Amino acid sequence: GRSLEETLERLVADVPDFPEPGVGFKDITPLLADHAGFTQVVEALAAPGRDADGNVTVTKVLGMESRGFILGAPAALHLGVGFVPVRKAGKLPRETHAVSYSLEYGEATLEIHTDAVAPGERVLVIDDVLATGGTAAATIELVERCGGVVAGVSVLLELGFLDPRSKLPGTQVHSLLVS
Ligand code: PRP
Ligand code: MG
Repeated sequence: GRSLEETLERLVADVPDFPEPGVGFKDITPLLADHAGFTQVVEALAAPGRDADGNVTVTKVLGMESRGFILGAPAALHLGVGFVPVRKAGKLPRETHAVSYSLEYGEATLEIHTDAVAPGERVLVIDDVLATGGTAAATIELVERCGGVVAGVSVLLELGFLDPRSKLPGTQVHSLLVS
């Protein structure tokens, strides 16, 4: 089969000047549309949820609304564990923990159901892109508010030039692609 690098090169499209001039966008929709490629990438994103012997070491996969849902839910099924959605403010119907973080303009709030992660549970966090790291840092705080432990953060693309890891001290970060 093809290497992961070949798959990403072939199926992640570089779109210049989107959403604004000077910004390069990585479009993963061709990857999602390709069964073999999507399977390979989901398996790679899920890999940090196993130890060297292949045993699953997490009890939940968590994905952040909305693009984290697309990658996180199949990774949870692949590992054989449950999926937890972290949602934008006001979407979850029961008691939540909420964490706000700053964006370029203004702030955003993410929420988790307080009972979505049990104390001591080990969670693998999956999203499409790690940019400033704000979304991942807020998500880690939500898991910790539940008493859970973030075993790792797994992303398809890390924008290394934005230095997201500086916002995630002590967290294992796994990126399939760094640009
Ligand atoms: C995008 C992307 C990541 C986040 C990364 O989500 O899907 O979740 O930004 O940026 P950060 O590291 O600077 O926080 P966005 O908030 O645009 O929402 P979406 O997933 O619903 O498109
Ligand atoms: Mg997102």
